[in-house]
Parts: sequence; structure tokens; C-alpha cells
Amino acid sequence: MKHILFALLLFCNAYSATIAQEATSPLPDPLTFNSGKKVETTAQWTKRRKEILETMTREMYGVSPAKPKDIRFQVFDEDKNALDGKATRKQVTVHVREKDKEMQFDLLIYIPNQVKRPVPAIIGINFIGNQAIHADPGIKLTKAWVEHSGMFPCSKSGQATDACRGVNASQWAVDSILARGYALVTLYREEIASDRKEHMFQTGVHTLYPELQNREDNFSNMAAWAWGLSRGMDYLETDRDIDAKRVAVFGFSRLGKAALWAGATDRRFAAVLSNESGAGGAKQFRRGIGENINRLCTVFPHWYAKNLCKYKDKDTELPFDQHFVLALIAPRPVYLATAEDDRNADPAGEFETAKASDAVYRFLGTKGFSGTNFPALNEPIYGQIGFHIRPGGHDVKMFDWIQFLNFSDLHLQK
Ligand code: GCU
Repeated sequence: MKHILFALLLFCNAYSATIAQEATSPLPDPLTFNSGKKVETTAQWTKRRKEILETMTREMYGVSPAKPKDIRFQVFDEDKNALDGKATRKQVTVHVREKDKEMQFDLLIYIPNQVKRPVPAIIGINFIGNQAIHADPGIKLTKAWVEHSGMFPCSKSGQATDACRGVNASQWAVDSILARGYALVTLYREEIASDRKEHMFQTGVHTLYPELQNREDNFSNMAAWAWGLSRGMDYLETDRDIDAKRVAVFGFSRLGKAALWAGATDRRFAAVLSNESGAGGAKQFRRGIGENINRLCTVFPHWYAKNLCKYKDKDTELPFDQHFVLALIAPRPVYLATAEDDRNADPAGEFETAKASDAVYRFLGTKGFSGTNFPALNEPIYGQIGFHIRPGGHDVKMFDWIQFLNFSDLHLQK
């Protein structure tokens, strides 16, 4: 009798443990191999990092082509007296050739004049074309397609016009970035890969590698945008005015998702600044709050590899969650900026990612993330992993830039 009761007790315990596990859907651990073995040494971490990179590439972001052998930089503009003498403006066309095909895109670079060079830099992709980030009439108008929306009603038949100059300037704190001693480098999303569903994989870098599409881990837009940022870095390594060892990669929203993947895949980026990247960026899919995999696959099927759609309505079955992207960035500094009304991007879910990343950052010898409780509005958390939530909606505000610059000062100005 005693034995039967004991067995029943064991069974009940095991059963309730399973239920609890299902209900909370435990977070996968970046410090545990797929085999279940724990990472205990840095040599093991090197292997585990590779395993994470392979898994995330296959299941979510898709493959990327190898670094191109045939890449050429044409500096077509240099004005040492731009922005009333505050900056040197350079514009560079990056040409990439693969067999008989070529793609090209432009970098717009402002380098502060008041500080000693080489300077640290912030590089980020923009939404509306290089000419949209500042009203400077010297900026070349993009020839790529430009959306015409309520927010940016400036293009005609998809082409940028002079009305597109500075239309997105409020999200790019050019003067503050320069005043704090950083160069700003930007490139346009459409010149790298089309963000229009009907043109997906038919423009920019995708034209060079059509063979990378007909597979489940296909070369996605996120991977393409990250590729563009890495090619920008290839140029920066050749520019003596820039210290390529001190370059932070920045991005907002979908381009914040791309910035995180660029930081994860290219260790030349010394820091990552992600603004409201949300689903497929810094938020946890497992919480089930805000945008989910189903919506990403339906509305933006070109953003991630086809494989991600296996997890439609099964977000908790992903073999990782977005703290694995931070694990790939670790131990390099990363900052996650969120906004109170940006519910779709689940600010608390981004905070959970920062918390879940603490262990890897500590394992790699940094102080990790010091946030334990969700912070009050406008109370940034600095450290190796930074975080803030500010009032307001989906946007890039001066408050966000000030925190990015303070955070960059801590890590890139020492
Ligand atoms: C949509 C999308 C988000 C994305 C945003 C943007 O709102 O659902 O995932 O971040 O567009 O890039 O502006």
C-alpha cells in the first residue's frame, strides 16, 4: 500500500511539473548546448555561439552571401565645410560585383570638424533615403523607389523629389551626434533590398544572389540589410577619418531588427543601439504580447527566412528567443530603447530580453544587465546592456538619442 501511495505521489509531482512547464514555456538557455550540456568554459562558449548562429540563421534570418571579393568605393562628394562648417560631408557609392552583375548603394557620412580624428561613428539604415535625414541641399537624392505616405508625402511616381529633403530629420539628431564627437553614417533600405512585398528579392543585393532564394533558409531582407551595414563597415575600415574599431550600429523599428542582426553577425561593430525593434527584434516572442510570428509572416513575408513561418501560432516552440541575438552580440554593449505607447513592440518584452541576456554577459566577464525591476519612464539603465522606456509612441526622439550618445560615451569614448 505504502509503495502504491509513493508511486502515485511521484506520478502526480512529475505530472504537475510538466503542466507548469507548459504554462510558463521556459526560456531556452543560451548557455546550454542543444544536446543539453552546459557551457562551462570560454572554449565551449565559442562552440555554443557557433551553434546559436547556425540555428538562428537556419530557422529565422536566413543565409547571407560570403563577403564579396569585388567591392569598390567611389567617393563622389567631399565638402569640408558642410552644415555651416560643423562637419565634413562625404558621399560614397559602394559598388559590389558578382560575376556579370553589379549592385550599388550610397553612403552619406558627416564627420564632426571640431574634434581630433579618427572619430568614433554611428551607422544606421534610413527609411526614406539619405536626403531625408537632413535638409542639407548637398545630399544626393536617392534614385531608388521612395514610398509616398501620409507621414512622408514627398515622392512623385516613387521617385524622390526636393520635397523629400529633411522629411525624416526629426528622427536623426545630426547636430547632437556631431556635437558629441561622433561621425554619422547612413544608407537607404531600398538601395539594399526592396521593402515592397511585390518587389521582394528582385532589387539591390538580391539581384546578385538569386540562388539564395529557392530554399527554406533563404536570404531574407533582414539578412540583406545587415549585409548592407557590413558593407558600410568595409568602407569605414578604409576611411582614415573614422576609427573603425569604435563604430556603433543603430536602427529604428524594422531597421532596429536589422541593426541587431548586423551586430550579431559582424563582430566589427563595437556596440548596438536598437530603438523600438519589437517583434523579431528585441522583444520576447514567448510572452505572446504584441506582434507575433503569424503577423510577421503574413504582412512582411520578405523580412525573415521562410523557415520562420513554421512557427506561425507556435511562437513558444521556437528553439530560441530573442535574447539569443543578444547572446551573439555579447560581450559587446547593446542598448534597447522602448516607448510606453509602442504596445505592438511590447516594451516589457524587450526588458525581459535584456534580463535574460544578463547571464551570457556575466559569463563573458562583463557586469551584464543591472535592471531587476522594470524602470520608471525616462529612467535609463546604463551598463553593458542598456535599457529605457520613455513616454510616447513609436518614434525616435531626442530623448532616445541622448541616451544612445551617453551610452556610446561610456563604451566608445574611453
Ligand atoms: C510595422 C511592423 C513592425 C515594424 C514597424 C516598422 O509596424 O509591424 O514590426 O517594426 O512596422 O518598421 O516601422
